[in-house]
Amino acid sequence: MKNTFNLSLTVNGTPYQKEIDPRTLLSDFLRHDLGLTGTHVGCEHGVCGACTILLDGAAVRSCLMFAPQANNREITTVEGLGTIDDLHPLQEAFREAHALQCGFCTPGFLTTLVPYLEENPNPTEEEIREAISGNLCRCTGYQHIIDAVKIAAETMNS
Ligand code: FES
Ligand code: FES
Repeated sequence: MKNTFNLSLTVNGTPYQKEIDPRTLLSDFLRHDLGLTGTHVGCEHGVCGACTILLDGAAVRSCLMFAPQANNREITTVEGLGTIDDLHPLQEAFREAHALQCGFCTPGFLTTLVPYLEENPNPTEEEIREAISGNLCRCTGYQHIIDAVKIAAETMNS
């Protein structure tokens, strides 16, 4: 008999219950089972940060978790941060500062930085660099991302 796991969790405010293979990675569950392809998968071993999501409000790498480890937990993906008509201030700042090019890394930067800015509303440039040191971007050279974080911090504090 096939081994399955009955997973219950909330994603972006919507409750889900799904029977899954217990070895399913959380990143694959979000992308393949829920169709939330905003969570990107780059390295699949915890290095690039592209797959970062919020688990009960904390930034974690979804490629390093099995989906059953998220049982009864609350997840926010990049799709849950803002909408096209109502962007999160950090998303707005990324747009304003040209902080993305291909956009592959962007969901991971946003989900890393949203809880960071909530806990550190006035980061210095050095602290911003430290905060994003676990996220890789192959396009931007990082400076525009740092500029965006400064803009977002200002907006969120005003
Ligand atoms: S895909 Fe998860 S850290 Fe790279
Ligand atoms: S914008 Fe292309 S990898 Fe960051």
